Amino acid sequence: MEGELLFFVNGKKIVEGNAEPEMTLLTYLRTKLGLTGTKLGCAEGGCGACTVMISRFNPHKNRIVHHAVNACLAPVCSLHHSAVTTVEGIGSVATQVHPVQERIAKTHGSQCGFCTPGIVMSMYALLRNRPQPSKLDIEEAFQGNLCRCTGYRPILEGYKTFAVDGGCCGRKGKENDCCMNREAKDNNGGSVSQLYDPSQFKPLDPTQEIIFPPELSRLAKQENKKLQFKGERVVWIQPSCLTELLDLKAKYPEAKLVVGNTEVGIEMKFKNMLYPVILAPTVIPELTVVQHTRNGILFGAACTLTQLEEVLRSSIDDLLPYQTEVLHAILEQLRWFAGRQIRNVAAIGGNIMTASPISDLNPVFMAAGCKLTVISKGGKRVLQMDDQFFPRYRKTALKPDEILLSIEIPYTRKGQYFSAFKQSLRREDDIAIVTCGMNVIFEEETNTVSHLQLSYGGMAPTTILAKETCKMLIGRKWNENLLEEACSLLSKEMTLDPSAPGGSVTYRRTLTISLFFKFFLTVQHKLAGDLKEQGIVLEDVRPDYISATELFHKEFPSCAQVYQAVPLGQNEEDVVGRPIMHLSALKQATGEAVYCDDIPHYKNELFLVLVTSTTAHGQILSIDSEEAMSSPGVVTFLTAKDIPGSNQTGPAVYDETVLADGMVTCVGHIVGAIVADTQAHAQRAAKSVKISYKELKPIITIQEAIECKSFYQPVRSIKKGNLEEGFKEADLILEGEIHIGGQEHFYLETNCSLAVPRGEDGEMELFVSTQSATKTQQLVAKVLGVPANRIVCRVKRMGGGFGGKECRSTLLSTVVALAAHKLKTPVRCMLDRDEDMLVTGGRHPFLGRYKVGFMKTGKVISLEVTYYCNTGNSMDLSLSILERALFHMENCYNIPHIHGTGYMCRTNLPSNTAFRGFGGPQGMMVAESWICDVAMACGIPAEEVRKLNLYEEGDLTPFNQRLEQFTIGRCWEECLALAKYHYRRTQIEQFNRQHRWKKRGISVIPTKFGISFTAIFLNQAGALVHIYTDGSVLLTHGGTEMGQGLHTKMVQVASRALGIPGSKIHITETSTNTVPNTSPTAASVSSDLNGMAVYNACQTLIQRLEPYRTKNPQGTWEDWVTAAYLDRVNLSANGFYKTPDLGYDFETNQGRPFNYFSYGAACSEVEIDCLTGDHKNLHTTIVMDVGKSLNPAIDIGQVEGAFMQGVGLFTLEELRYSPQGILLSRGPGMYKIPAFGDIPTDFKVSLLRDAPNEKAIFSSKAVGEPPLFLAASVFYAIKDAITAARAESGLNGPFRLDSPASAERIRVACEDRFIKMCPPPEAGTFRPWAVQV
Ligand SMILES: Cc1cc2nc3c(=O)[nH]c(=O)nc-3n(C[C@H](O)[C@H](O)[C@H](O)COP(=O)(O)OP(=O)(O)OC[C@H]3O[C@@H](n4cnc5c(N)ncnc54)[C@H](O)[C@@H]3O)c2cc1C
Ligand code: FES
Ligand code: FES
Repeated sequence: MEGELLFFVNGKKIVEGNAEPEMTLLTYLRTKLGLTGTKLGCAEGGCGACTVMISRFNPHKNRIVHHAVNACLAPVCSLHHSAVTTVEGIGSVATQVHPVQERIAKTHGSQCGFCTPGIVMSMYALLRNRPQPSKLDIEEAFQGNLCRCTGYRPILEGYKTFAVDGGCCGRKGKENDCCMNREAKDNNGGSVSQLYDPSQFKPLDPTQEIIFPPELSRLAKQENKKLQFKGERVVWIQPSCLTELLDLKAKYPEAKLVVGNTEVGIEMKFKNMLYPVILAPTVIPELTVVQHTRNGILFGAACTLTQLEEVLRSSIDDLLPYQTEVLHAILEQLRWFAGRQIRNVAAIGGNIMTASPISDLNPVFMAAGCKLTVISKGGKRVLQMDDQFFPRYRKTALKPDEILLSIEIPYTRKGQYFSAFKQSLRREDDIAIVTCGMNVIFEEETNTVSHLQLSYGGMAPTTILAKETCKMLIGRKWNENLLEEACSLLSKEMTLDPSAPGGSVTYRRTLTISLFFKFFLTVQHKLAGDLKEQGIVLEDVRPDYISATELFHKEFPSCAQVYQAVPLGQNEEDVVGRPIMHLSALKQATGEAVYCDDIPHYKNELFLVLVTSTTAHGQILSIDSEEAMSSPGVVTFLTAKDIPGSNQTGPAVYDETVLADGMVTCVGHIVGAIVADTQAHAQRAAKSVKISYKELKPIITIQEAIECKSFYQPVRSIKKGNLEEGFKEADLILEGEIHIGGQEHFYLETNCSLAVPRGEDGEMELFVSTQSATKTQQLVAKVLGVPANRIVCRVKRMGGGFGGKECRSTLLSTVVALAAHKLKTPVRCMLDRDEDMLVTGGRHPFLGRYKVGFMKTGKVISLEVTYYCNTGNSMDLSLSILERALFHMENCYNIPHIHGTGYMCRTNLPSNTAFRGFGGPQGMMVAESWICDVAMACGIPAEEVRKLNLYEEGDLTPFNQRLEQFTIGRCWEECLALAKYHYRRTQIEQFNRQHRWKKRGISVIPTKFGISFTAIFLNQAGALVHIYTDGSVLLTHGGTEMGQGLHTKMVQVASRALGIPGSKIHITETSTNTVPNTSPTAASVSSDLNGMAVYNACQTLIQRLEPYRTKNPQGTWEDWVTAAYLDRVNLSANGFYKTPDLGYDFETNQGRPFNYFSYGAACSEVEIDCLTGDHKNLHTTIVMDVGKSLNPAIDIGQVEGAFMQGVGLFTLEELRYSPQGILLSRGPGMYKIPAFGDIPTDFKVSLLRDAPNEKAIFSSKAVGEPPLFLAASVFYAIKDAITAARAESGLNGPFRLDSPASAERIRVACEDRFIKMCPPPEAGTFRPWAVQV
């Protein structure tokens, strides 16, 4: 060790003598400092949950600079002389909340709250740098943050109040028109649109922020000293000058230089790489220099991407426009390069030297002909960035002892044009599918090409040049002929092996041409303009082609929410129906809310890591844990032999093992577990457990399962009418198919369990992030072989669940309990994101096949539909999920003759499970596919066909349940009116006539969602209410809080029922020893069931208090409680509720599976880029029937959150499995959930007025799942836009579009001449990288 690591955290000085080079700042904060406000969501810089602010004094700028960074990637050793600010450092509920924390909470921008501290810190860092940001700055600050609950709208809206152009003056000016002076019209039962009161917001006062430690300013001005920290396996050296660095590199040629650690950190964490020597060059001036040279700008290799951005922006202002073509192109690439947190730390040199084939900057640097200076102890050399620079995959031309010193980015000259393009799955924060830089120079005052350089990433193991194509085009005129030839040459030169890693072969090849076409048009347009100035006339781009040259740009969303106010005269203290804030929101925003892994560590606590199968189907031949057992810190290796009770487990049928015994049936099947003193030790040891298998043939896809009839029993079916008669009656019959991909829950908090043995009678206490405390208790008792009364499961809150923690959480909790039982000590495990995604399964992929008979008018007469769902390696809840798909097979349409059949495919994938909507969305998605086909076949707009077939009040569903209080007609009409559907349709038609390469589409989709668990016995709930002698009330009920606001709603119910303010009522947690035998918090019914149980308990108490109230009518609540207590009245009551009149029999097709239905309709408009497949969500209007809302803010939050999760399902999220059943997409890097930029630019949500529901508590309705399917409106709007694009190629009539409508699917479906140049490889002739499961 040379020197000590000195830094500050939240103003407190930390001097660390034993800094561990492998430890991240996040681990340091959470485990060493106990600052658990900063969360772990992915450990790979992809979610932003770990965002903190780092401040440093910059001696060159002579000022303090603040940056948001990902604590999960920042090595603690990199913090020397920095000040770290975490969410705890800016405010707390106990003292004072910061305006940034207050606004996200009060504008309902925090649901589960797990993303909230990260979002707060991104905003805080922005405000520290720019106290008056623009809306654009705000959007950009969140590019690296994800939220799975809110749908982002409330966060943006809350923070817009800080923006200079946000329409909010922060109560500074505009006296009369100030939004903060406006009051909601909420006292007359009318419609209101204000969900919060901005006049309550504290103004931002930059002078109140914690000061930067003066000691650090002083230290920054002192001379650098060499620092060195030696850890368990790695030594970290921070040389003080270039000579020292070069000496070290000569001494340790294999040493890694680390600047941002955004690449090295990932390699060490996820790719099992070990770099024993790390050199940190960040303080060396030669590596951070920026110089303007005669030919361009020179950047030291350690300059960060944010610095690059800032310098380019300011240089562009000072240079002549023609000089800045490359600079603009780099800025465009940086706009879509990772998130702000990554750009703040990642270095230019790091990007170049990683030599990634999908680097965003390397194709630009290569096409622009940048010069690189490299240096070693032996001296300097200058290399041209060309195709020699990257000799092979992830290799550069540098010698082992050389380092990259700097890069010179050239200015462009007159007659030179440059563009860069990046295409990715998601626009924001995503790695490229194809990325490129394109450079052309013309002979003076002509359109004759003198130099052309096209460089591509994503088309080979390295960044490459399209050399042959460029060579052939030199000397050619920039016209249609050149375009034709260029496309043809590129299609031959830019080929890919059909099995190429990354897949999407046809798409990638098409992109190389489509992007060149964009470049061609862009240059033609600019050149025509420039030459015109010199009096030379050149043909310009056709007006209907011009939009193809526009860069992807979206406006800041504008949103509106409308709901019905509480009726006139409702007591001020009665909070039912009012938009009150989530009760934990402020704590979530300050980092004080405690999640499972935030529970302080017990003495002697150990950490568990799962050991899982690497083969999809096989017999275990041997397990060798010898090496693992001798690794540092390891205490035990658990196998099936350690189970004292039963190894059989499962939520409905016991067809799974806690730990694999003999056979493995999927990749990710849990075989054993390592328990060690730390997570790092356990993970390292787990990787060294060797398992050998006898491989058996796996079944991975639905198609394979159908081929070998691999189905679970029973096969379900629902039938009404006479199908054959129906088909005879029909004018036309069509057949079709749609595949709906699965979905990862991506709750921000991964699964976490902590088991604490109590040492007596087999007692154990479990703290678990689960939606089902009872199921956890039952299955843990079963594996341990003890009665359930020895096991207590406690759930404070979850960082999201969405069905993923309904029963799959027991995979982990049973193993953790087993370890704690064996070792007689507390054991904890929070899964890493990749482990969670690998092991826990997700939404079922579905294949729907249909035959539909209909009249020429569009009236559907008969339908035969078959569903196949990819169930995976166990039943889990799949039967109920399949049944729900069948219950929703007709969506909202009255089909006289209908027959649906469902098969559960047994495959070797991790068991799929509950996910918001529970099979309903898949069922309805198939319905909308045949509606769409019928419309196209009849040549009628799909909306007319939908309207024509809609149910009416009193109609019977295929399962013979009568539709009562049927509001779909109202939702539909209000939605059309609010969205101005007919006006939009006309505008779209006009737009599409005027644009060849951009098309718009629109769609309106209704939904009907059955409310109840279809397993009848689950429709019950309990509650326990204690009144203490001071009048305070402790409320417990069977539901768990996962962000959906259930506890808030339950407090509202109890508050009305008891007639006391909500502030007197408290909910601590959900636990099996307070309310037993609870149903999982699922199926959208938790407010209905638990609300009634709470009401029931409160009624009992009210009756017991009644005599004292009557006796003392002027008394207070406290008086009555005291009087009752003194009179020896029981002030504790439990409540119970079961939903009446439920029951359905598949054999007879009779009975009521549902208590009632929730309804809604949505209209969405999109714009697609036919050349890239990008799409923009331009507009969405949702009208949702939630009955009489218990809490409009929470309900609107559920509508928006579910809708955005549906947008992910239907347009973005793709799980990629290899043909061998290996999940390839195991983190936010490869699996893209919607980001801030994906919300509709114009987003309206309206809760249907005057629609009380007599079937649920206080006339409310369930809301958690029903709105999700409305996102299908975006999918079908995309399909509508593709239809317009296909018409340009003369293609009309029905076509297949599978879900999600990803950029790839959109591009390929827009069949055009470029697609035809890249025909797909013939199926069966190659092994694809990924398969549709
Ligand atoms: C969430 C996330 C999103 C990302 N998004 C993108 C994206 O959109 N586009 C993209 O292109 N990349 C992306 N990346 C990759 C990565 O961020 C970039 O490659 C980044 O520029 C690497 O810089 P760094 O300073 O963090 O590198 P480090 O991890 O510190 O180092 C990377 C490599 O470069 C070497 N190195 C660094 N400096 C020198 C030098 N001066 N001389 C010799 N070798 C050197 C190191 O030894 C190491 O091998 C992303 C990464 C993450 C984690
Ligand atoms: S935990 Fe750091 S970005 Fe996800
Ligand atoms: S509130 Fe954002 S992830 Fe839950």
